[in-house]
Amino acid sequence: MQFSLTKSEVWSLGPEAVIIPVFEGEEWRRALAQAPENIGLKAERLAKQQAFSGKRGQQLMVHSEAGQVILVGLGLVKRGEAFLETVRDCAGLLAQTAERLGLSTVALKTSWTAEVIEQFIIAAELATYRYHEFKKEPKVAKLQEVIFVVADAATVRSVTKVLDRAQKVSEGVNLARTLVNTPAQTMTPARLAEVAEEVAANSGGAVTIKVLDKAACAELGMGAFLAVAQGAEHEPKFIHLTYTSPRPTKKTLGIAGKGVTFDSGGLSLKPAEYMMTMKCDMAGAAAVIGLFATLATLKPRVNVHGVIAATENMPSGKAIRPGDIVKASNGSTIEILNTDAEGRLTLADALHYLVQLKPDAMIDLATLTGACVVALGEEISGVMTNDRKLGASILSAAKVAGEKMWELPLEPRYRDFLLSDVADYKNITSTRYGGTLTAGLFLQEFVSGLPWAHLDIAGPAFAERPMASYLPRGGTGHGVRTLLAFIEKM
Ligand code: BES
Ligand code: ZN
Ligand code: ZN
Repeated sequence: MQFSLTKSEVWSLGPEAVIIPVFEGEEWRRALAQAPENIGLKAERLAKQQAFSGKRGQQLMVHSEAGQVILVGLGLVKRGEAFLETVRDCAGLLAQTAERLGLSTVALKTSWTAEVIEQFIIAAELATYRYHEFKKEPKVAKLQEVIFVVADAATVRSVTKVLDRAQKVSEGVNLARTLVNTPAQTMTPARLAEVAEEVAANSGGAVTIKVLDKAACAELGMGAFLAVAQGAEHEPKFIHLTYTSPRPTKKTLGIAGKGVTFDSGGLSLKPAEYMMTMKCDMAGAAAVIGLFATLATLKPRVNVHGVIAATENMPSGKAIRPGDIVKASNGSTIEILNTDAEGRLTLADALHYLVQLKPDAMIDLATLTGACVVALGEEISGVMTNDRKLGASILSAAKVAGEKMWELPLEPRYRDFLLSDVADYKNITSTRYGGTLTAGLFLQEFVSGLPWAHLDIAGPAFAERPMASYLPRGGTGHGVRTLLAFIEKM
């Protein structure tokens, strides 16, 4: 999308439509005082007829020879982070309106600050993203250009700065969405590694990559990860991305993303309905790759390791059986009682790998449990942590970034449920309850006491229905915006 800025009088621009965002009950007539012809008068008449008051979703369209003016209702004025969501919502509503009316260019008259406009731009980029790889005719969004009409030259300068950041962030999110939307037949472990290699190759040296094949993983003793991979035809890949800040820094962050490119459940096969969206089981990995694409361009002052243990989870004559016992790279043995609880097995080895890189903190993102969707619904991810400060920083970054996250406890008493009679651990518990927490507790056994947070993104990773006016059905790139906000504050 194109964004530009001007402080010129909006009415002389001649775009296809001039948009004026209006909060509920706000005085908007003054904004039309300089409008050509009798737009102001017309608008007033129409507003009365249609009871336009700025309620969310209300729209007032005024046509004239000189062009169209659209007032977009935003609802009640909100403060703080809620205000930012209103602005993102405005971008979504605007993209939908443009789609319906066939508008490709709009001018937006606003007095928002640069930080607020930044969120608008990110949301506009997310709202106009389309995945049309397999469509006969590409479905390109109608809205292609937004001209911000701002009050003064100082705002023009400050918005020019955030414009660049906003576009880099949304590129990362949209890359993650494409990786999730791509069917598992194409988005294999090898393809995931290729995309990560492309990110490194295009980073101008900021990002380096190491990809370990099956033999190299076996060498490192990754028995848990390879147990999941053994039933699949596609070879597993262990991907290690490193972003090195061009400016000196002592801070290092480790990130692991669950990269199960398709989760059939394995021999503990999923029912058909539960399997339909399981191409999304690599959404954690997609978030890591999207994040690195943005790190490469944004260049924050933190070093970051990103790891992905990529594999399919498939049933076959070679597949792992319920009851089998495997040894993870940290030496712990695990009795696999349900082959569908595979994410924690892949992450056990990924987290232990990260531990050896000695980061100051670790975060994992994983579409780990259906129980988390039961607990928090489809739009909120669960955050579990062994470090209060780290947890608080992630939750506050999520709020600013506009992703919904909620903390869940790592209840120590539940740890006993993970102990096996015949091995050190088992990969499921014998209780039906608290499945998200026990999965988190399982992962905790592999972080060697380092500050760590686990994000169960099973709900929001893939939107089965629109998750916001600016996030339609499909992969959402959930996690990328929060991680970036977190990293920039580190
Ligand atoms: N990938 C699934 C979790 C999932 C469910 C992700 C829904 C996205 C949407 C995970 O591997 C899984 O199957 N978990 C099992 C664990 C159980 C066997 C203990 C689950 O949640 O049922
Ligand atoms: Zn599973
Ligand atoms: Zn899974």
